[in-house]
Amino acid sequence: MNTVDAVLRRSLLALSGSARIKALALRLPLTAAVVSRFVPGETVEECLAAVRALAADGLRASIDFLGEDTTSPEQAAAVRDAYLGVLARLADEGLADTAEVSIKLTALGLGLPGGRDLALAHAREICAAAAAAGTTVTVDAEDHTTTDTTLGILAELRRDHPDAGGVVQAYLHRTLDDCSLLAGPGSRVRLCKGAYNEPVEVAHQSREEVSASYVACARILLAGDGYPMLATHDPEMIAAVGELAAQHGRDPGSYEYQMLYGIRADEQRRLAAGGQTVRIYVPFGTDWWGYFIRRLAERPANVAFFLRALIGR
Ligand code: 2OP
Repeated sequence: MNTVDAVLRRSLLALSGSARIKALALRLPLTAAVVSRFVPGETVEECLAAVRALAADGLRASIDFLGEDTTSPEQAAAVRDAYLGVLARLADEGLADTAEVSIKLTALGLGLPGGRDLALAHAREICAAAAAAGTTVTVDAEDHTTTDTTLGILAELRRDHPDAGGVVQAYLHRTLDDCSLLAGPGSRVRLCKGAYNEPVEVAHQSREEVSASYVACARILLAGDGYPMLATHDPEMIAAVGELAAQHGRDPGSYEYQMLYGIRADEQRRLAAGGQTVRIYVPFGTDWWGYFIRRLAERPANVAFFLRALIGR
């Protein structure tokens, strides 16, 4: 990433905290801007239609009900209920083999007073509903201030639901150690580069350092006994994962690739057609601002399109 892009990325991520701009943007229909490229819809119906279309192309899904930084217990309960609704639909429609869910603990109330217990209780209910439906839950990573709590909650969830997945972010200095701790038998771990605005004290800043950390983390996970979920769109990382998997005698199906809805759709299909397991993160809902801004920050070329839509109205 060049300097201009790096500055733009930081500014965008800072912008995601602006309530006024968020309110302005959320008035736009999804289709008005580039948002719909990354978010297939606001409703469960639209989400499931996207999941079915992916399944027809041999792709699995992890469904995210958009939301983060919930500000009331009622909102946290509503997020939980939305997940329970999605899981019931997956079971009813025979989609539990192809789709799981991803949850964000701050959407489930982690940031509220007493939020750790609240988020854990909601996450437990979602894990139980996922098990009843025949699928799994992955607990998303958020910014570094939540990492310890999130991994602690993951450990508690895994006592009853050993298939609960966790997420580690290669840009954090701590992640190599976290990978070693999480590489045990059956451990489902998503490795991504990381999408938040993190200070130099805790995170690698350059693309090269983040990539080197990603490969080192992937090596630990692929050498381990768990089920690594390698989330990346970077062609170099995809190739490195392929080589590491071969070195460690990993058959396709003993690990998977993950990508985001709307990003490198052709590559998603190419990997799946080549026999790889590929899972697509499919977000839906009306609270798309934070998620969308992180996508813009990853690819500043999209910013101009979005601003045109925002200002041109
Ligand atoms: C995010 O919300 C994909 O979980 C990741 O940016």
